[in-house]
Amino acid sequence: MTTVGIDAVEIRTGNLKLDLPETFAPEKGEDPEKYTKGLGLHASSFPDVYEDIVTMGANAAKRLMDRKGLEPDDIGRIDVATESAFDHSKPASTYIAGCLEDVYEGDFHHANKGERKFACVAGTQAVDDAVNWIQAGKNRGRAALVIATDTALYERGDSGEATQGAGAVAMLIDEDPSLTSVDPVQGFGSADETDFLKPNQQFPSVDGKRSMQVYLARMREALQDVESQRDLHPDDFAVVPFHIPFPGMVRKGAALGFRHISRGTDVEEELAEEIGMQPRREDFEDDEAFRDALTEYTDDLTGTDRYREWYDRTVEPTLGISRHVGNWYTGSVHLARASALKEAREGGRDLDDAEMMVCSYGSGAQAEIHIETVQPGWEEEIAQLNVDEQLRARKDITFAEYEQIHEVHNYDETTDIDAFTTPEEEFVFDGWGRMGERKYTYVE
Ligand code: HMG
Repeated sequence: MTTVGIDAVEIRTGNLKLDLPETFAPEKGEDPEKYTKGLGLHASSFPDVYEDIVTMGANAAKRLMDRKGLEPDDIGRIDVATESAFDHSKPASTYIAGCLEDVYEGDFHHANKGERKFACVAGTQAVDDAVNWIQAGKNRGRAALVIATDTALYERGDSGEATQGAGAVAMLIDEDPSLTSVDPVQGFGSADETDFLKPNQQFPSVDGKRSMQVYLARMREALQDVESQRDLHPDDFAVVPFHIPFPGMVRKGAALGFRHISRGTDVEEELAEEIGMQPRREDFEDDEAFRDALTEYTDDLTGTDRYREWYDRTVEPTLGISRHVGNWYTGSVHLARASALKEAREGGRDLDDAEMMVCSYGSGAQAEIHIETVQPGWEEEIAQLNVDEQLRARKDITFAEYEQIHEVHNYDETTDIDAFTTPEEEFVFDGWGRMGERKYTYVE
């Protein structure tokens, strides 16, 4: 079978930055360490007045196309994954294609465009769709653009306000990819859940604590589904990117994953002297006692050198970018992959042919775990990212400016303020058209 996967990646952050420990925590009367240590977040990215899911997605896609030397004819499919759509009918991919057509000679009239929705897991679903399309032989030599783009804003005062973020990840899905191949093993954990949803409303209704339990439950189910296809061992994977609503959630997901996978392996035996064997259901009278024992074992496990070494090698490097931008919903797990590859390159780590276990998640709820293999050529590709420069260039906003920009992006308010930054060589939102459509232009 042809090798298909992610050939290139681009990251585009919102142009504003809200410092969580310095600016947000004092206004909330909270200890800054709740953010830096508890949630694991230092800052959130925000969109300036002229930015939205279309501008961020189009800007990421343009940089990707420019540096890969692509023209619209080379692209046979544009899928946008988002849960921040402003149109119930016309997909964001048409707006993004329209932007790109303004700056390239050709057009995307023969490209299949769509929009994927399933909370944060939609970005991964769009990658799967693109891979399947190419493997089915329908691509006629063309590649697919997958763009995960979101403005992850919560209602003011909601507990999720601390985890906000805005940005886009564009990925080129192609044959003989430079970054990773997406392998056939794929497991799902999916159930009808009411933990985070937006029933015809812009900002989510969230049951924060429950959403964390649902994340873990669906992740466990997806692992079991993978295990029905192949044996798993914690040391099989060089990198384990998770969906990152905030890094503290990944800390919990990783502990659950390691415990689950190491059960019955040499790793469990190796740790037995230090922390005992894992609790087994048959040794407990009821579920509650078993769950308590599991929690106690997991706490002990995360204190062992064996676990810490595994976590520091496979998970910690995936969190680097997210700590400074917050939750990007559909883009988060793809930021995690990029972050780990970037850190590996900077640290001189050899990942050629290494396996990754990619753990995606979307509220509502579904986890998908699939395996990717890092391709020779990944270092050259990941070296092209300019995310550090983008993060440094963001304007650090005050709390009063944060309040204003939150209102600007609230669809129920009409707030007209000057932009905080000056756009340069990028697509910008440019006002409204006669049918209520959003209009865009490219600023030199
Ligand atoms: P909260 O209740 O304000 O925070 O909101 P908390 O009191 O639970 O504190 C958070 C952590 O900081 C805790 O760590 C505290 O102990 C610690 P834990 O005990 O859980 O390990 N902490 C401190 N640590 C050090 N020094 C201190 C300190 N103070 C506290 N001084 C909550 C937390 C997650 C509920 C909130 O942020 C929220 O509602 N977020 C939105 C929902 C969310 O992100 N859920 C995650 C799973 S669902 C998901 O991933 C899907 C999603 O991305 C959407 C989609 O799929 O589309 C959200």
